[in-house]
Amino acid sequence: MSSFWSIWISVITLGSILGCYLLLRWCLQNKTGVEEGDNMHHYFDGIVELNNPLPRWWTILFYICIIWGLIYLALYPGLGNYKGLWNWQSSNQSIKSLAESRAAVEANKTNGVINQYDREIQFANELFAPIFDGYYKQPIPELAKDVEALKVGQRLFSQNCSQCHGSDARGQRGFPDLTDDDWLYGGSPEKITETLINGRQGIMPAQLNAMGDKDIEELVAYVLSLSNRPDLEQATVDAGQAKFASCAACHGPDGKGNQLIGATDLTDQIWLYGGTEKALTETLKYGRNGVMPAFKTTLGEKKIHLVSAYVYSLSQDK
Ligand code: HEC
Ligand code: HEC
Repeated sequence: MSSFWSIWISVITLGSILGCYLLLRWCLQNKTGVEEGDNMHHYFDGIVELNNPLPRWWTILFYICIIWGLIYLALYPGLGNYKGLWNWQSSNQSIKSLAESRAAVEANKTNGVINQYDREIQFANELFAPIFDGYYKQPIPELAKDVEALKVGQRLFSQNCSQCHGSDARGQRGFPDLTDDDWLYGGSPEKITETLINGRQGIMPAQLNAMGDKDIEELVAYVLSLSNRPDLEQATVDAGQAKFASCAACHGPDGKGNQLIGATDLTDQIWLYGGTEKALTETLKYGRNGVMPAFKTTLGEKKIHLVSAYVYSLSQDK
């Protein structure tokens, strides 16, 4: 840091602390001309303001904070380039890029230096590895009946999946409900595991360039008719059906979808992005692109095995 910024930071920091001190001193003086405890003659909705001083305990706390701040700034680095009396340094203080960070991690490994985070991860891995190994040997349908295994699976789900699928796994717009036995990619143990290991990407191509507004309106009517929506104009539905051939390549001739590419079933009244005319028009015009991240490296296959069992269990009692 250049000495200009160093001085700049120091002046602002120390100036603010001094400012707090002066403000406190100023507020402690009675400049109102009214005796302490007497009526200020300010009335608000029948409430009277008395000239009370700042509470003593609060003033003392404020002084302690100021002293604490000064001691802290003296001991630790903080004021620009000043290193502090204790010469404290964080372990990655000089690291300025990802490449340097990786190099430092490698250097630590070769020199046998283990920091606190690594130590905790290593400890947890050694402690829990036998448990995960044990579960990994059991098939998913069996684990899905094992209350203890499901508890672990649920915890992994809360930490890794709930931000998208919800803590109850019921999903939200754009994020599938995992409890309803309606699957984009298949609900067998193998398919669920495959989804988690490699991730998934659903690509519904935008039609706006290929089609006009009228074509889209007709197709929306046809899609609505597939799930027996009433009040549709038959002529529009028929016109839409005639144009469905290009959609059938992915969604199937009967609109029942294709789990190999995650093309949704359009006949089951379960919608990923909404089944209103407005939502469907938006889907057709601009396309959709749902991404389920891959968990192969973050969780590893053994933990995925347990989460898969948990997800599998959610739709089993229905
Ligand atoms: C960043 C958000 C996000 C996270 C985190 C996430 N998912 Fe997903 N997941 C999605 C989306 C989006 C889809 C739908 C993909 C598509 O539209 O093709 C999906 C799809 C799935 C599917 C396929 C559902 C089906 O009907 O075939 C499963 C199973 C699943 N997720 C489970 C999980 C589990 C278990 C975790 C945690 C390990 C997880 N997801 C974490 C966003 C997420
Ligand atoms: C290349 C394959 C492909 C084609 C062609 C295609 N779709 Fe799709 N469609 C998909 C996929 C995959 C999804 C799921 C997108 C996601 O998971 O984000 C989808 C999603 C949808 C949805 C959203 C369903 C919901 O539950 O919200 C509708 C509606 C839809 N498609 C209708 C159509 C219509 C109508 C056509 C013809 C104009 C069409 N699609 C053409 C692959 C296709």
